[in-house]
Amino acid sequence: MPRGLFITLEGLDGSGKTTQIKRLAGWLKKRFPAEEPILTRQPGGTPTGDRIRALVLDSRSAGLSPLAELALMFADRAQAIAELIQPALDQGKIVLCDRFTDSTEAYQGGGRQLGSAPVLELHRLLCANLQPDLTLLLLPPLEASLGRNLARARSRNERAAEQNGADEGRFEQEQDAFYRRAWEKYREIALREPDRITLIEGDLTIDQVHEKIIEAVASRLLAHNQTASSLDDRTGNVPASG
Ligand code: TMP
Repeated sequence: MPRGLFITLEGLDGSGKTTQIKRLAGWLKKRFPAEEPILTRQPGGTPTGDRIRALVLDSRSAGLSPLAELALMFADRAQAIAELIQPALDQGKIVLCDRFTDSTEAYQGGGRQLGSAPVLELHRLLCANLQPDLTLLLLPPLEASLGRNLARARSRNERAAEQNGADEGRFEQEQDAFYRRAWEKYREIALREPDRITLIEGDLTIDQVHEKIIEAVASRLLAHNQTASSLDDRTGNVPASG
């Protein structure tokens, strides 16, 4: 069976990733009703990962050192790969993941100033260097992200805290300079890996971003299915539909 397709969404807090990943999942379900995509997020997405998420995002973890934070992000990711992502890909499924190692490179490498090298090295050691087939990076202009979007993310988290007591506010207490470094690191990654990353820039509407996402996913799916069917030709298997 050909390997499934691994798609990640990336961007600063409040960039609209969560809305877009849900719309993308809806589009995929309509297009391939038989192949329900697996939707997950990091940190989180497994029972252990949810506990790591609660620990790392809680504002009571204020004393967490940058290296401890880096290690927790990778502990979460190694678990998600072992428990969820790799088995799903092995079964030929489409996996949509809200954040992956680019987030660690942007936030811990850039934001916390640990640099890219330890992040890439840990990814190689702990994640067997698993790479997404496609990464959609939502990068509205930094000034818009710092103002409007972060404010929206903050008020969303305040509402969540009121409703279910979850405290996910630790990152939102960071200063603008932290987000500026993360934004710049994201751009640097996109320029370094243009084949994997589709950079969606500019002050676009939700519909415009969705259109761009569909365009990128459709062309990646086409290439993937062509590869799968040429592999199947060689092995004599019947190609998967869609
Ligand atoms: P979320 O709100 O998009 O679910 O992300 C939770 C926060 O965790 C967000 O502020 C970014 C941060 N984060 C990192 O700092 N490093 C990482 O590796 C990941 C996955 C998230």
